[in-house]
Amino acid sequence: MIIVIDGPAGAGKSTTAKEIARRAGLDYVDSGAMYRGFTYLYLKHGKDRSRLAGLLDDHGLRFEFHSTEARVFHGEMEITSDIRSDIVNSHVSEVAAMEEVRNAVRLLLRDASANGNAVLEGRDLGTVVFPDADYKFFLTADPEARARRRYDERIRKGEQVSLQQVRENVDTRDRIDSSRDIAPLKKADDAVEIESTSLTFEEQVTRILQHIRSTPTETQPNNSDQLKQ
Ligand code: DC
Repeated sequence: MIIVIDGPAGAGKSTTAKEIARRAGLDYVDSGAMYRGFTYLYLKHGKDRSRLAGLLDDHGLRFEFHSTEARVFHGEMEITSDIRSDIVNSHVSEVAAMEEVRNAVRLLLRDASANGNAVLEGRDLGTVVFPDADYKFFLTADPEARARRRYDERIRKGEQVSLQQVRENVDTRDRIDSSRDIAPLKKADDAVEIESTSLTFEEQVTRILQHIRSTPTETQPNNSDQLKQ
């Protein structure tokens, strides 16, 4: 079963996708971590697009998706926390708008979901990368709530950041991600929208699971058997 969850920054995609993957016994895949990995390389190579393009066939990035976090390696070096740094936050939307990078990520996503059993999160998964996914969700929340969630998350990790800084980054990324020409952030016509501003995490997860259980598809006629409580 392929489940995709798209939506803007801070909508709760990661925590939700991990929990759905855990309950359904599926792999979890974070496409944002892939764009962040390529952004790390872009910065490392002096923000030179042509040097990044030259690396795309042999980029040396490796992704391990666990139920608690997405670990990322460049060669032997772990760059899990580097890909969440301010500098990557500020450049990731610019790099994610590059066609050659989107093509490279699309290939990585195909590989990561090759067994046909995954929950994947991103921006364009329901519209472009997995148009035939079994289930598509679009998770949103108002910008203030999303900035607050991202801020709380970063403070919990011990980072020094202000709510205003986080809000500005979320707003800028939303704007660039939604307005780019290639694969913009957009709800797929057949995605189920979940507005989570006033939902608890458990309510969010329950809505998704209920939808899956109550909507068997041609390829998933017994989907509820697969979903643990
Ligand atoms: O989910 P995230 O915040 O880690 O994603 C980082 C950036 O990557 C996001 O601002 C836009 C880009 N992205 C994208 O363009 N397409 C995706 N499928 C996933 C992420």
